[in-house]
Amino acid sequence: MAYIPLCKLRNLIEGEAAPFNLDGREIMLLWPEGGELKAFDGLCPHQHIPFSRGVFNGRYLTCTAHDWVFDGRSGECRQGEECTLDSYPLRVVDGIVEIELA
Ligand code: FES
Repeated sequence: MAYIPLCKLRNLIEGEAAPFNLDGREIMLLWPEGGELKAFDGLCPHQHIPFSRGVFNGRYLTCTAHDWVFDGRSGECRQGEECTLDSYPLRVVDGIVEIELA
């Protein structure tokens, strides 16, 4: 698969989240404070509700539907279940954030 342009890096802010819909797929970019920009599946693994209505505090993403919490650095779920977020390869080329959809 090829990398697909998503957005300009300068439009993103460290410590914040940015949801996207790319080719009908929900994508959530998370840029944890002091960490690296990551691209995760934008649907909560619990009941597949978009994270676009979630809350990101700069480290943890909370799905507001039932309050499941995910680590923005790894995508790991903090519910004690196997529900780590799927992630997408991400790169920045000439200031453009690109991801590779599987
Ligand atoms: Fe996200 Fe239930 S759908 S916690």
